[in-house]
Amino acid sequence: MNQKIRNQFPSLSRQHNEMPITYLDGPAGTQVPTSVINAISDYYKTSNSNAHGHFVLTQETDVIVEKTRAKVATFLGGEGGHTISFGQNMTTLNFALSRAISGCLQVGDEIIITQLDHESNRAPWLALRAQGVVVREVKLKADGTLDYKDFANKINEKTRLVAMGWAANIFGTINEVRKIRKLTHDVGAWLLLDAVHYAPHLSIDVQAIGCDFLLCSAYKFYGPHVGLLYCKPGLLDRLQPYRLRTAYQHAPYSIETGTLNHAAIAGVKAAVEYVASFGKGKTERAKIVNAMQRIHQHEIGLAQQLWDGLAAMKKVELYGPSMNTAERAPTLSFLYNGKTANEIGQYLGAQNVCTWSGHFYAIKATEVLGLAEKGGVTRMGISVYNTKADIDRTLEIMERLK
Ligand SMILES: Cc1ncc(COP(=O)(O)O)c(C=O)c1O
Repeated sequence: MNQKIRNQFPSLSRQHNEMPITYLDGPAGTQVPTSVINAISDYYKTSNSNAHGHFVLTQETDVIVEKTRAKVATFLGGEGGHTISFGQNMTTLNFALSRAISGCLQVGDEIIITQLDHESNRAPWLALRAQGVVVREVKLKADGTLDYKDFANKINEKTRLVAMGWAANIFGTINEVRKIRKLTHDVGAWLLLDAVHYAPHLSIDVQAIGCDFLLCSAYKFYGPHVGLLYCKPGLLDRLQPYRLRTAYQHAPYSIETGTLNHAAIAGVKAAVEYVASFGKGKTERAKIVNAMQRIHQHEIGLAQQLWDGLAAMKKVELYGPSMNTAERAPTLSFLYNGKTANEIGQYLGAQNVCTWSGHFYAIKATEVLGLAEKGGVTRMGISVYNTKADIDRTLEIMERLK
């Protein structure tokens, strides 16, 4: 990936204190290309309006929203725009979904979550304990992967739903969701995937994977702050989300509350188109799949360089699956002996290297692995616009820490 790509992101040319800014904070949200910024501002310049009316602006708004649904369905390999709902963010959508699903559950029904997950895919399900639902937690192993034996032991005929992440935002672990899909099929349970950390790095095919629900967030893949929910056709209409009687009562609208962020939704469409622009293929779906392969190859190469450089530092201890793992997200977490994660974050931040420190809401994983009492870990993530120069600069600054 080259300077041409970097030129597409206005924020990358920003300096602070006469130093460049090195963006390794992608797991918390990526920078945004000009095409996405323009799509958002163009909406305000031309079509700003409420939805479902009889004049040109509102009709254009409806077209933009529906086109974005179709675009997101293509991005996720879904059956069409009718499977895609929008929300404020993934967390808000998942709470709405858990409340809707709770209406189908009886006392004693079981839900499985994992210790590796972001709290947004734990708390909405743990809340259902109050109505007598049994929520079981699959164990996390010291290497940052899930205990699949424990998983198999916990799934049984009472399991109604498995809610798990596809990629871990703290360690870059890719979970074996195909294996779990087989287990959920055997007992007739639904499978819900949190793909927030997976979507920026690898291509998703909801039909091939056979999940019932999948959530992600456009701000993690070069778009604005909009949450996205895929529901298998027909499934959302079996649920009763909280909604107004004045709103559409059917999928994909029934889980959306109030007026959507139309301008941001216009930006989501542009973000998917931006990702697709990296790929080759006859259809937009083929382009997206090819683009994600190319993006992943680029990102993993840089992650390897970063891992090797950090691993060579005596005081650094890296966590999570090694870079030799077959499938991995380009997200690295580490501790530096003698300094807390916050101190490392502050040191790097003072030199305009953007990283995050702490638990990143994957708080259970840090508690289980004894990292919480140490103040969590420092996390660096690679995005499409990162370069070898970013990694060289970061490692050189880390070397100076001695
Ligand atoms: C893996 C994962 N899941 C869920 C979320 C929550 O996403 P949102 O901010 O859209 O609620 C995040 C956010 O960082 C995440 O990394």
